[in-house]
Amino acid sequence: MTLVDKRIKKVLYSQVEIEQKIVELADWVNEEFKDSENLIIVCLLKGAMPFMAQLIKSVTVDHSIDFMITSSYAGSHASSGSVKIIMDLANDIENKDVLVVEDIIDSGITLDKIKDILQTRKPNKLKILTLLDKPYNRKVQLNADKFGFLVPNEFLVGFGLDYKEKMRNLPYIGIFDEKFLEK
Ligand code: IMP
Ligand code: MG
Repeated sequence: MTLVDKRIKKVLYSQVEIEQKIVELADWVNEEFKDSENLIIVCLLKGAMPFMAQLIKSVTVDHSIDFMITSSYAGSHASSGSVKIIMDLANDIENKDVLVVEDIIDSGITLDKIKDILQTRKPNKLKILTLLDKPYNRKVQLNADKFGFLVPNEFLVGFGLDYKEKMRNLPYIGIFDEKFLEK
């Protein structure tokens, strides 16, 4: 087992468990998009980057990838409720099949906004895949088409998830110990 960072109260999912789950999620993608001829997999930066990188290695449907940066947390650990596009997609998605890949859905506000924006560009198909689903604080009617793990109502870090932009590099996902929260 990897040495666990001292700021982690509890490891929820090990690297091996996450990687196994991602293979299952890739199977879902392969089935869901088996007839697609123009699939674009969109990674929501920065949190979904490790998930995306691992996922596409097991996706066998031909596809291209694209990236988008949005922000709703502004470097803090509490959601501010406003969503801003910082970097948009490089590709036109009209008539394309689009899979949006996210790290975690909490209030749902981020993805709800992104989904609205992408729908106006008239994709042929638009699906949402999130590694983690935290359904306790939903503020909008938004659900993923597929999720990996249903997580407890805690602040999590690792495997792309950050605390103040750090700790995305941890190969596992754990609960952040609140005694390390900066005041
Ligand atoms: P939502 O708009 O509230 O659904 O938040 C989605 C975004 O908030 C995610 O893409 C994450 O970047 C961030 N987020 C939500 N919960 C956590 C968490 O437990 N740890 C780290 N980031 C989180
Ligand atoms: Mg994110």
